Amino acid sequence: MSPANAPILQAKEIRRSFFVGGSEIEVLRGVDLKIKEGQSLAILGQSGAGKSTLLNILGGLDKPTNGTVSFQGQDLTDYSGENLALFRNKNLGFVFQFHHLLPEFSALENVMMPGLIGEIPRHEMMERSAELLDEVGLGGRMTHMVGKLSGGERQRVAVARALVLSPDLVLADEPTGNLDSETGAQVADLLLDLNLRMGGALVVATHNRGFADRLESSFTLADGRIVENI
Ligand SMILES: Nc1ncnc2c1ncn2[C@@H]1O[C@H](COP(=O)(O)OP(=O)(O)OP(=O)(O)O)[C@@H](O)[C@H]1O
Ligand SMILES: [Mg+2]
Repeated sequence: MSPANAPILQAKEIRRSFFVGGSEIEVLRGVDLKIKEGQSLAILGQSGAGKSTLLNILGGLDKPTNGTVSFQGQDLTDYSGENLALFRNKNLGFVFQFHHLLPEFSALENVMMPGLIGEIPRHEMMERSAELLDEVGLGGRMTHMVGKLSGGERQRVAVARALVLSPDLVLADEPTGNLDSETGAQVADLLLDLNLRMGGALVVATHNRGFADRLESSFTLADGRIVENI
């Protein structure tokens, strides 16, 4: 039983340092963040501010040096190895800064992948993935190897892959960053429309203020901390 307004994800006092060449850089210096069910929020900030670092921690891809992340009340540090991978597969969708698709596999196979890992029957995944690719305008590219698609097409495959299991939370890291403004706007539209329909929460790290303004709230990461934009 969870109250309607309970946060789906809560990060408390997140710190993350890296040691490079014998010296410590403190990238995150105490980030607190709450994301409610279905909420959409943008994280702005200069290059190097720590947006990718934060998203990786929120999604359990990296561990904070200090602080906790809990998802639906469960501490992410309670999971490790295969359990963590299964948890991510079931609950989260990622769109990465550099798409991270499998170039030697077709667009359809890439979108099907999270479901196959999650042991959903192949025919069901194929049907769902084909529908989604059609919706992102890639009905005619399903059997193309991802390595042969354009940048914008790849990013649309990445959006379809992130959303195919209707995750409770989608984390998108610069989903439009490497695209021209028109293609970027199309990818942003797709991500927002599909996510709204599926009802999950959405966190987007972006340099693009226009995109950020389309989300319910936006924060800026600066000096390792988060400040709310007004
Ligand atoms: N694995 C790592 N080892 C050492 N330093 C790292 C590591 N990952 C990130 N950093 C450093 O942490 C800082 C934040 O990096 P991060 O990738 O989170 O920035 P960002 O806000 O996503 O930037 P961009 O907008 O360019 O994507 C950078 O100075 C980077 O060099
Ligand atoms: Mg980044």
